[in-house]
Amino acid sequence: MSAPVPAAHHRGTEVLAAAPAETPVEAPLLEVAGLSVRYRSASPADAAVHDVSFSVRRGEILGLVGESGSGKSTVLNAILRLLPDVCQVDATRLEFDGIALSDQSPEAMRMLRGRRIALVPQRPMTSLSPVIPLGRQLRRLAGPGVDDARLADLLRQVGLGMVAERLDGYPFQLSGGQLQRVLITISALAAEPDLLLADEPTTTLDTTVQAQVLRLLLELRDRLGIGMVLVSHDLGVIAQTCDRVGVMHAGRIIELGSVDAVFAEPQHPYTRVLLRAAPQRWRRGERLLPDQHGKAPVASAPTGCAYLARCPHASDRCVTEAPELRAVLTSLVRCHHPGRPDPAFADEPGEVR
Ligand SMILES: Nc1ncnc2c1ncn2[C@@H]1O[C@H](COP(=O)(O)OP(=O)(O)OP(=O)(O)O)[C@@H](O)[C@H]1O
Ligand SMILES: [Mg+2]
Repeated sequence: MSAPVPAAHHRGTEVLAAAPAETPVEAPLLEVAGLSVRYRSASPADAAVHDVSFSVRRGEILGLVGESGSGKSTVLNAILRLLPDVCQVDATRLEFDGIALSDQSPEAMRMLRGRRIALVPQRPMTSLSPVIPLGRQLRRLAGPGVDDARLADLLRQVGLGMVAERLDGYPFQLSGGQLQRVLITISALAAEPDLLLADEPTTTLDTTVQAQVLRLLLELRDRLGIGMVLVSHDLGVIAQTCDRVGVMHAGRIIELGSVDAVFAEPQHPYTRVLLRAAPQRWRRGERLLPDQHGKAPVASAPTGCAYLARCPHASDRCVTEAPELRAVLTSLVRCHHPGRPDPAFADEPGEVR
């Protein structure tokens, strides 16, 4: 079943080493390896992020999915070094375009943020001050060289002409969806960064505006060749937008592969449950089985696999030995028993697509 990882994007440096001399292979734009984050209030066993590794190339969109609290926002904030001091962050590699982010001074990080790496935050309403006029805040976010005329022009380009007329107003005068689009426009269009980290950029939007925002992101990728990490709970958004996807559970990446491979042949039992629970598969009269045995989810296990309590395939080995991320078909999977069909869905023809 297992095969070497064929895709160039999983292990940038290893691929570089293996490539023939005459074939230049682009180094990844972002490389994260062995990233762990622990909030000091939590016990050592309860890391919010545990040994997370992935890379993103220029022009590539990597999706991050996973249940609430699985560590997606913490990963994005760790890359930008925006986590509070109460966090202990360890990583064997945290590199953006060859720059070791952990070694940068706070001033150097400020220069990178916004200009070369932009963040679309999960809660746009709380990332802007309610008492400072919108235009002033947007100009500051957009950086030098973006005056009112350029700001208004960018907003009109994405159908936000009415916001352009109201730059002397305040954030609370816009709807959540308008504010989300304004922030994406400013983070991505005005600053033209090399890397965009978007934390659930479409969660607050209705489906037509969501489609506009997704088109905007894809257009930016195509026009500017920027790399993106896109966090979303919406598997439809991930399928339509991303090249690869990482599935997170309890602070770990438990499956990482091309969108085609992960959606067609999910290997980890949690990925199967996640895809099975996606709304498009809800049908009238069908049982919903988001947590197949009704056991309470656990954040982590002292030894063994963090998915143990919910897993229908758990064996003695899963109790004593935490699985490492390893190559299975074309993906990387953190499971001792990948690819097994879930007995709870066995009565369904064509289970998990
Ligand atoms: N300031 C904090 N202090 C202590 N623990 C925190 C803090 N912020 C986040 N956590 C914990 O870190 C873990 C990961 O949280 P994170 O916000 O990264 O999850 P997420 O995957 O982005 O979730 P969601 O999908 O709900 O946005 C959670 O267990 C959360 O409780
Ligand atoms: Mg989050």
